[in-house]
Amino acid sequence: MLCPSLKASLQLLILTGLLDVTSGGSGLHIEPEDAELVLRLHSTFSLVCYGDSALVWERDGQPLTALLEHRDGVFVSNLTLKNVTGRHTGEYACFYSSDQAPERAERKALYIYVPDPSLVFLPAITSEEFFIFITGYTEAIIPCRVTNPELQVALYEKKVENPIPAAYDPQQGFKGFFEDKTYYCQAIVDDQEVDSDTFYVYRIQVSSVNVSISAVQTVVRQGENVTLMCTVSGNELVNFNWDYPRKQAGKAVEPVTDFLPGSPH
Ligand SMILES: *[C@@H]1O[C@H](CO)[C@@H](O)[C@H](O)[C@H]1NC(C)=O
Ligand SMILES: *[C@@H]1O[C@H](CO)[C@@H](O)[C@H](O)[C@H]1NC(C)=O
Ligand SMILES: *[C@@H]1O[C@H](CO)[C@@H](O)[C@H](O)[C@H]1NC(C)=O
Ligand SMILES: *[C@@H]1O[C@H](CO)[C@@H](O)[C@H](O)[C@H]1NC(C)=O
Repeated sequence: MLCPSLKASLQLLILTGLLDVTSGGSGLHIEPEDAELVLRLHSTFSLVCYGDSALVWERDGQPLTALLEHRDGVFVSNLTLKNVTGRHTGEYACFYSSDQAPERAERKALYIYVPDPSLVFLPAITSEEFFIFITGYTEAIIPCRVTNPELQVALYEKKVENPIPAAYDPQQGFKGFFEDKTYYCQAIVDDQEVDSDTFYVYRIQVSSVNVSISAVQTVVRQGENVTLMCTVSGNELVNFNWDYPRKQAGKAVEPVTDFLPGSPH
């Protein structure tokens, strides 16, 4: 038999353990709990998110409006998708509103497909999706996402007959090491070939940044101009950002950016 004080401290341990589990557990959850769902075209479906602070919904990073209620100390956000079409396909994520709880980065997500014969490939969210910039030897994604995850999808290079071997994820697209070429995806729907948008891949040269800064004059009299020059070589992509005294005070300077041709890279 355990002595009473040991028993009490064991109970305390178990209790604190339980408390850890409940407070450490997110408190944020969505219903249904599936990782992905396939909805019938024109059906209506509700996603419900529960949490202990104000909640917001996004689809593929775009904010959505949903009804937020506060019931018995729990925040409930009910996102009803009415008469769904292929355009409703995407990742639905619920998280704490950044205005109300900026430090809480928790997030729960669910991927929804709505197979739609009139919309085989999802349109680009932003036009930048058609242009894929890659720096160095890195993997890239050609984001031709389908509304029906059952479809067989192939990747082609423009004007080349045979498909390119690459891994396809219907939630993301084709993943691989692509060249500076033009690509499109193709799905077969009822024996018909359906092509996606065209994607342009650009590989950008980026090396270790070689920055040099020089000044035309380092001692000036009041009222004179100061000219500073910052040069970066060996890179095709660079963002200049100047820091100087009185920047905080709102004294703005306007830098002039020039591309100097003839550098070795
Ligand atoms: C969410 O809203 C839909 C449509 O208004 C309703 O049918 C459903 O019961 C709601 N779900 C919850 C959990 O409130
Ligand atoms: C659903 O939307 C389609 C067009 O997308 C429309 O023709 C149809 O009437 C709508 N159905 C309902 C029940 O609202
Ligand atoms: C860095 O740039 C300077 C001036 O443009 C050049 O003289 C130097 O050789 C470069 N260094 C490297 C490592 O590329
Ligand atoms: C300083 O630069 C401005 C703008 O380039 C020019 O208008 C002005 O004459 C220059 N002042 C002096 C003292 O060089």
